[in-house]
Amino acid sequence: MNKKLRKAVIAGNWKMNKTPAEAKELIEGIKPLVKDADCGVVVCVPYIDLAVALEATKGTNIGVGAENCHWEKSGAFTGEISADMLSAIGVQYVIIGHSERRTYFGETDITVNKRVRAALDNGLTVILCVGEYLEQREQGITAELVAMQTKIALGGVSEDELKKIILAYEPVWAIGTGKTAPSAQENEVCAVIRSTVKELYNAAAADAMTVQYGGSMNAKNANELLDQPDVDGGLIGGASLKPADFAEIVKAANR
Ligand code: PGA
Repeated sequence: MNKKLRKAVIAGNWKMNKTPAEAKELIEGIKPLVKDADCGVVVCVPYIDLAVALEATKGTNIGVGAENCHWEKSGAFTGEISADMLSAIGVQYVIIGHSERRTYFGETDITVNKRVRAALDNGLTVILCVGEYLEQREQGITAELVAMQTKIALGGVSEDELKKIILAYEPVWAIGTGKTAPSAQENEVCAVIRSTVKELYNAAAADAMTVQYGGSMNAKNANELLDQPDVDGGLIGGASLKPADFAEIVKAANR
């Protein structure tokens, strides 16, 4: 498997942080630091910040994403935003299946799949998250679990549509905790995800798939994580809110 065939993508996941004014300031801080990046650079921001982020990133190498989307086009779904609405304002990316959505908002593999479908139908690139809880890792079922999450989420997705999918392995116990497993272990799970794509599609599709790692990736550990053969980028929470740290991770992906 040749890592050089794949595009590394570093995506910030801002979660429920930053007002529009703060979002503009953060993007202005990031812009000059990542302007020469070889890898893809994306900021996924709260819905309320999307308009400002799209404006502030115009003409730059920074893509803009949302943190979720609903599967219906429109209708009686109080508090939701549809994939159609996101694409209508020019959003290019959307995170789907983040563990915080699964844990706190009742997201299931089935609803993740529906959201993936809607996002693809609207031309969005999906950052699709899978990952295990600590109990599941301790039970030794991580590989089975992430394979199953990947399979259900990709149900009904064609090989051609895979070009619009980025898979993100995010062990739940590593998110926002400062804890990471040794990078070889993170790589092992990213490799499981890749071989699941091979099983579902074929070797070429698996080889071309960008598989990110996410969970406490920071300026210090990014080099080691991104050096792993099956890790093609990162989904960055906390460190994406600090321009210098985020830029350091982008630099690590460019090496
Ligand atoms: P973290 O979050 O980098 O703060 O651990 C990652 C994520 O939830 O995507």
